[in-house]
Amino acid sequence: MLPTNLTEALNAQFNNEIQAAHAYTAMASYFSGKGYHGFANFYLIQSREEHVHAMKFYQYLVTMDEQPVLQALTEPRNQYANALDVVEASLAQEKSVTANIYKLVSLADELQEHATLSFLDWFIEEQMEEEKMFRDMIIRIKGIEEGGEYFLKMDDEFAARKLEE
Ligand SMILES: [Fe+2]
Ligand SMILES: [Fe+2]
Repeated sequence: MLPTNLTEALNAQFNNEIQAAHAYTAMASYFSGKGYHGFANFYLIQSREEHVHAMKFYQYLVTMDEQPVLQALTEPRNQYANALDVVEASLAQEKSVTANIYKLVSLADELQEHATLSFLDWFIEEQMEEEKMFRDMIIRIKGIEEGGEYFLKMDDEFAARKLEE
């Protein structure tokens, strides 16, 4: 068992990760609608990665003899101006997840819950990588005019991305 407030915070993050998966599926759908199938593939895999993250929280709660509780999803944003708009929204989402993870770490530290601190280490690293990935994408997209040859080459490259589990 874990302290009630820590269990609630971990459970909230379990649900946040599912909400993040939901949001990335909506972004994939935006690209599918545009016919940019590579970008759609990238975002569908991103969505599945968020579900993998959610399951890490699920398993951790179960390991600590706590029961994960599913909450309602909110409607994600479905309309975007262009690819850059989607990637900027992705970076903003990741920054808010990072802030949530940091709050969890602070709470676990306050409570001297070392197992939880150790569990959360992986997420600190992961958020660094996720923010960098989207920052790099923004830089690349800003450097080209959407619709140009290089944009399409990038689309092909994203089409080759495979799910890592
Ligand atoms: Fe995540
Ligand atoms: Fe993420």
